Parts: sequence; C-alpha cells; structure tokens
Amino acid sequence: MSRTFYFSGGEVGSFRVVDTLSLRGESLPSVSHLDVTSSAPTTAPTFCLWGVTSNDRYVTTAEKTELVSRQIPLGRPNTTHGAFIPIKKNAEWWALPQDARRRIFEEDSRHIALGMRALPAVSRRLHHCRDLGVDAPFDFLTWFDFEPQDVQVFDDLLGALRASKEWDYVEREVELRVERA
Ligand code: HEM
Repeated sequence: MSRTFYFSGGEVGSFRVVDTLSLRGESLPSVSHLDVTSSAPTTAPTFCLWGVTSNDRYVTTAEKTELVSRQIPLGRPNTTHGAFIPIKKNAEWWALPQDARRRIFEEDSRHIALGMRALPAVSRRLHHCRDLGVDAPFDFLTWFDFEPQDVQVFDDLLGALRASKEWDYVEREVELRVERA
C-alpha cells in the first residue's frame, strides 16, 4: 500500500471545499475542490501538496494500544464532512531534542489525550513532509473525516489544540473544510 498521498486543490475533485481559513502565515490559493489520491495528479491542479505516512515519533506503548483500539479508518459511509489542515512548525521546535518535543506535545499540551476524546467520531491520517528531499511548504498534512453530527466534536478539539503550548510553535496553518462531492 502506498505511503504517499497527494492533496490537489482545483476545480475538480472528490471533495467540495466549503470553507478556507488562513490561521497563521501565508494562505493557499482559493479552490472549489480538493482531490486526495495515492498517485500524482495527471492534470495540473491549482496546488498539489504531498506527504508520506510514517512511523510514530511520540506515542508510548500504552497510548498506541488505546489509539489502535479506538480509532476507525477514514472513509466510513456517512463521514461526508472533512478537514485538510497543512501545518508548519518553526525552527525553534525543530531545534529541540526529541524528549523536549514529547514533553511539550503531550505532558504540556495533552495532544493525544485530547485527540483520544474525539475517537472514534473523527478519523485521521497524518502525513509527513520534512524528509521528502524537497523544500516542502508544510511539515505536516493532516486529514480528517467525520459525520455531520460530529462537527462540534471536531471543532472543540481544534479549539483545545490551538490553545495549547504545542501551537506556540506553529508558524503556518491553513484549514480547508470539505464535504464529499
Ligand atoms: C482526531 C483526534 C486526534 C488524535 C487521536 C491525534 C493523535 C495524534 C498522535 C498520536 C500524534 C503523534 C504521532 C507520533 O507519535 O508521531 C499526532 C501528531 C500530530 N497531530 Fe494529531 N491527533 C488528533 C487530531 C489532530 C488535529 C485536529 C490536528 C490539527 C489541527 C492534529 C495535528 C497533528 C500534527 C501536526 C501532528 C504531528 C506533530 C509533530 O510531530 O510535531 N492532530 N496526533
């Protein structure tokens, strides 16, 4: 199975873009559709961001066990709503050693504990861009889907994460809200 996923913004795609929010730093060009594919687009979209799924960096064995028991893969029949959120962290974050980053990520910010509360309502996939060998505009591409009735669960999680210490290190963040076309 491919570990590479492409997020193409343009005039066609499996998702309609219903809202674009520029939270920090430069936004993305405004588009009406988003396509998510595991092979490179054959036409030229307005933008194409790509990343790879990877090994975990921060989770402990106990956290991993709980995540695996609660999370459900993307693409359930009724998860018509979604969000694509590319994120770039600053140089200060990347200069920190692994243990300091873990401390900020979980002990200070409770990213995993907060995220766990949104499971299984929200499904997710994290893509990494830092080690692609190209100068990528974002470090992470985050991708979520959920049912319309769970929009609030997702919004509450976003609010809590953005108020956390981890987000002090975010220098670019754009949010595309989508619905299945
Ligand atoms: C739906 C519930 C969520 C859960 C259960 C969850 C869980 C996790 C876990 C376990 C990791 C660490 C993986 C590792 O060990 O490397 C992670 C990383 C990450 N998550 Fe979440 N997350 C959730 C929602 C979100 C949301 C809503 C966002 C964006 C606003 C987000 C953005 C990120 C980013 C950017 C990383 C990478 C952090 C880094 O490596 O510096 N997550 N998440």
